Amino acid sequence: MLRQYVYISTADGIGPEDIASILDSCQRNNSERNVTGLLLYNGRNFLQLLEGDVEDLSWVMRKIEADPRHNGVSIIEDIAIAGRACPDWLMRHIRIVDQVPERRAALDAELPAALEPNLRRIILNFAALN
Ligand SMILES: Cc1cc2nc3c(=O)[nH]c(=O)nc-3n(C[C@H](O)[C@H](O)[C@H](O)COP(=O)(O)O)c2cc1C
Repeated sequence: MLRQYVYISTADGIGPEDIASILDSCQRNNSERNVTGLLLYNGRNFLQLLEGDVEDLSWVMRKIEADPRHNGVSIIEDIAIAGRACPDWLMRHIRIVDQVPERRAALDAELPAALEPNLRRIILNFAALN
């Protein structure tokens, strides 16, 4: 059965090379586990959406929680879904644009159309926080 998780976490001193290394792990592990999703980083916090079968999500979440590059991993949404919102994204890093007035619209345009409206609202609010 397919589910979607959204979690947030806190990271200090993460640089572009850390993001690249995280995305490398995602390409390798998430393709093997058929987990898809998206990742946002606002300079201090991550928000990640993950979708897949429960056993695969649990496996990936164990890897994520064990990663010392962040802490305080908190799952804020866990919902059953009929189909994936981002089937083609093994893990898409979506950049939050610097310009605050344009940020919401820019992200809204990049989020997948099939995203459940409540999750879209949560992700847009996260991006507006800093
Ligand atoms: C914010 C964040 C998101 C991550 N997302 C994933 C992920 O979706 N899939 C994954 O396999 N690893 C993810 N990782 C990396 C894992 O925590 C871990 O470092 C990596 O999977 C280790 O893989 P390996 O044991 O196969 O080398 C993430 C790490 C961070 C900090």
